[in-house]
Amino acid sequence: MKVSPSLLAADFGNLEREIGMINRSTADWLHLDVMDGVFVPNISFGFPVLEAVARLCQKPLDVHLMIERPEKFVREVSRLGAMMMNVHYEACVHLHRAVQEIHDAGMKAGVTLNPSTPVCCLESIIADIDMVLLMTVNPGFGGQKFIEHSIDKVKQLRQLIDRTGSGALIEVDGGVNAETAPRLAAAGVDVLVAGSYVFGATNPEQVIAELRSL
Ligand code: DX5
Ligand code: ZN
Repeated sequence: MKVSPSLLAADFGNLEREIGMINRSTADWLHLDVMDGVFVPNISFGFPVLEAVARLCQKPLDVHLMIERPEKFVREVSRLGAMMMNVHYEACVHLHRAVQEIHDAGMKAGVTLNPSTPVCCLESIIADIDMVLLMTVNPGFGGQKFIEHSIDKVKQLRQLIDRTGSGALIEVDGGVNAETAPRLAAAGVDVLVAGSYVFGATNPEQVIAELRSL
């Protein structure tokens, strides 16, 4: 299992210390949640903060844009040196073009689905993308309760990927903890995002290692 801790739950007053912990840990990636107050009812951090994070972080950056028209920011995200750019299906009218632009900028492309968006919406894009990010809570806030039907969505997505021969990874985001993580692993998840479960722990590095061993 790959693990992508979400910086949203970190202590923003001590970002250097928090990213130092991520660098020392066995985390695979660092998940960065950008919100615009329009696509989601919250605002997190923007590019000036992300640039500082990118300078400090030694792990590949997994950027999750919860913003309208995310394709406008392909260049800015690629300038960070990001490995993965995740855009919401619901925010992109021309999703295929956005995926092409992300690839042309040298990044991997992830498509994110809100809890109410069915897996079948991915039929015509699954062959072209590197990852599907399934929201397992409504996007916008950390620390929310896992939405149960997400387990079925993971299984449906695993079937779609196997049927089409797509190489896309399955990442889940929201409410990942000791109870939900093993069930998500059993359903076929490749990457776990975890915010409050990691950063709220007394020993975050151990929590990351435990999730990775699933
Ligand atoms: C929510 C964000 C998540 C968030 C997850 O909109 O996309 O990445 O940080 O937080 P937890 O793991 O606390 O549910
Ligand atoms: Zn996220």
